[in-house]
Amino acid sequence: MTGHDKHPHDHSKPHPGAKAPAAATTLDHWPQIQAFLISTFTADVGSGTNAEADAAQNAPHAAFWQSMTYSQFVTGNVPGVTDPNTGAALPILIVGNSQKSNIVMALQGTPGSIFDPTTGGIGQMPQGFTPITAAGIQRLANWIDAGCPQ
Ligand code: HEM
Repeated sequence: MTGHDKHPHDHSKPHPGAKAPAAATTLDHWPQIQAFLISTFTADVGSGTNAEADAAQNAPHAAFWQSMTYSQFVTGNVPGVTDPNTGAALPILIVGNSQKSNIVMALQGTPGSIFDPTTGGIGQMPQGFTPITAAGIQRLANWIDAGCPQ
């Protein structure tokens, strides 16, 4: 034995079992979430072509997602609105708990909550318009459940 036994491998060729690297998992951060909310709810404001966008601007809370900083959005209350039952301020969200977050409950019209479309004191958002898709709500919920990555 000389130690010069030939290996059967030819390293100049791709390994037959080699796989392409897995695509990086897309994880939304605040810039993507804010851009998503703006494109969903505030496109074309002022052009007269998006009544939903104009209504959101005129809502008591205005288009609060549009200009807030990360920390205002994650730790703040919905501006201009209080709980009709208790008068308390309404936090926009609870980090790590999408289903108890007002913005998610508002968009999905959570049954039994103040956002219940039939019994809630506020009702489902965006008020008077077609609800956002389930996939869109899930994207926001996933970001909240992931701890609101900045
Ligand atoms: C995060 C929790 C939210 C709360 C607590 C909330 C609360 C309210 C309240 C109290 C009103 C006024 C209802 C009335 O005048 O009878 C309103 C209106 C409205 N909200 Fe929200 N909202 C929330 C999120 C959103 C979001 C994310 C949108 C997205 C577009 C939205 C869109 C609207 C629209 C379009 C109106 C109607 C404005 C009008 O026609 O004058 N809201 N909201």
